[in-house]
Amino acid sequence: MSFFSKLFSGTKGADRNAAPFVNPIQVEFHSHLIFGVDDGCETIEQSLEILEGFAKLGMRKVITTPHIMSDFYKNSKENLFPIRDEIRRRLKENNIELELDCAAEYLIDDGFEKKIEKGDLLTFGPNGKHVLVELPFMNEPRNLASSLFELQIAGFTPILAHPERYLYYNDDRSRFHDLKDQGILLQMNMLSCLGYYSKPVQDAAIYLVNNNLVDLVGSDTHNIKHQELLQEVYQNKVYHKVCEAALLNNNL
Ligand SMILES: [Fe+2]
Repeated sequence: MSFFSKLFSGTKGADRNAAPFVNPIQVEFHSHLIFGVDDGCETIEQSLEILEGFAKLGMRKVITTPHIMSDFYKNSKENLFPIRDEIRRRLKENNIELELDCAAEYLIDDGFEKKIEKGDLLTFGPNGKHVLVELPFMNEPRNLASSLFELQIAGFTPILAHPERYLYYNDDRSRFHDLKDQGILLQMNMLSCLGYYSKPVQDAAIYLVNNNLVDLVGSDTHNIKHQELLQEVYQNKVYHKVCEAALLNNNL
């Protein structure tokens, strides 16, 4: 049985009379599919295979978000957009119907506020005002509050990528609520529902879902394995629950 036929076959242990789950998400906005620029896809073939997979999964649009960091992945539109355009050409040639945009996942590091000052940001969403940001995994950055504030006064809406993965929030989950109260949108990784990263990350994801804190979901696909695991995500009760919330993906 192929990956996609398995996807739409029954759920193990599910109530036979229950309506099959239909994934409501049509816009995937967190992935690493600009090949050769970060820790995601390495070749155009890998990018195209995953993008074709997203089209088969019912996505109408993919906004891919390569890492941008001040010292490690120094990407910018100058090197990213020509690759995006090459992928778009190949999608067209292969008759893959999918809108492809390229934004970025910005690490909030020491150079981030300079980028805001210069207006040098890759954005997306309604009026191009959404910015995807991530934090270091070890410590909350000391310039977090100022960076988010600067973004907001410049008219942008920050989306924090995978808050459940920052284990320093495990000891103080009130920080999730603080961020929401400050107008930060929270994006949960779909694979966190499965415990793919770790059990504590899965627990934090369940906390976010149960407390209605998730604004958007993203696959954070770096490779084909991540995409193949979405089959399991679509059968997962935590994912079903988050999809009952008013997620913003389809408005992007
Ligand atoms: Fe990412």
